[in-house]
Amino acid sequence: MKKEELSERLALAERLAREAGALAIDYQQRGFEVELKSDASLVTVADGAVETFLKERLADAFPADRFFGEETGGGVDGPSWIIDPIDGTSNYARRRPFWCVSIGFFVDGAPALGVVYDPLRDEMFHGLASAPPLLNGTVCAPLEPVELGPRASMGFGSMETEPGRPGLRLVGALLDAGVSMRNFGAGALMLAYVASGRFDGYFENGLKLWDAAAALALLKGAGAPYAAPFDLSEPGRGAPVTAAAPQLFEAFVALKRDLAAS
Ligand code: IPD
Repeated sequence: MKKEELSERLALAERLAREAGALAIDYQQRGFEVELKSDASLVTVADGAVETFLKERLADAFPADRFFGEETGGGVDGPSWIIDPIDGTSNYARRRPFWCVSIGFFVDGAPALGVVYDPLRDEMFHGLASAPPLLNGTVCAPLEPVELGPRASMGFGSMETEPGRPGLRLVGALLDAGVSMRNFGAGALMLAYVASGRFDGYFENGLKLWDAAAALALLKGAGAPYAAPFDLSEPGRGAPVTAAAPQLFEAFVALKRDLAAS
């Protein structure tokens, strides 16, 4: 796809993310029921309404593009929008101020552009995968190499309970190494923080494609190494996602490998 076509889509995604954020805030102010999904995660009427808004507006503008969203599903083949209308729903539902709208676009199975919008702070992380990410229109500073140690600050997501609890052992080993660890419950936002240098790394065992898609484009643009082995033929399946500043990424992967072997 030509750069002008991607830039046109990026500009629309930015506009729609703002409108989607305002819509979500409006729902929150009016009050809503909170329901449990089959996987025990929370969902509100706003999640579905915001996704439907985005899906319809994107289809109006680019009817040939495919769509895949957390609430309404779809597929990823050919040029595809990948959306999480409200990432951090549990925070949103309980009025903790850490959630965002995430709009990614893949071409040929790879991240091409991303928008992660935090409406409560009016912070828009946006960009093409071929260029450094921007925060509210200002190019983010290049990422510096970071060592695995007390100067590193990493985000992490939910750690599945597996035999031997490898996720918890990994968190423990990072804490032992002095890394400062944070989980504020919005994976897309925490990954955007890595791309923009606010965090040095992020990992989660079973992150979903809709949480990661937009931020992967920002990470690519930032030149941040990442591993996100999603199977796009089964886009609803989670994958272990790791992203970090140069140097820290390699050290993190080695630590994970050593722990698995011990
Ligand atoms: C969740 C958040 C959370 C992450 C979970 C996601 P949702 O997304 O990103 O931080 O740990 O894996 O499912 O359900 O709020 O859109």
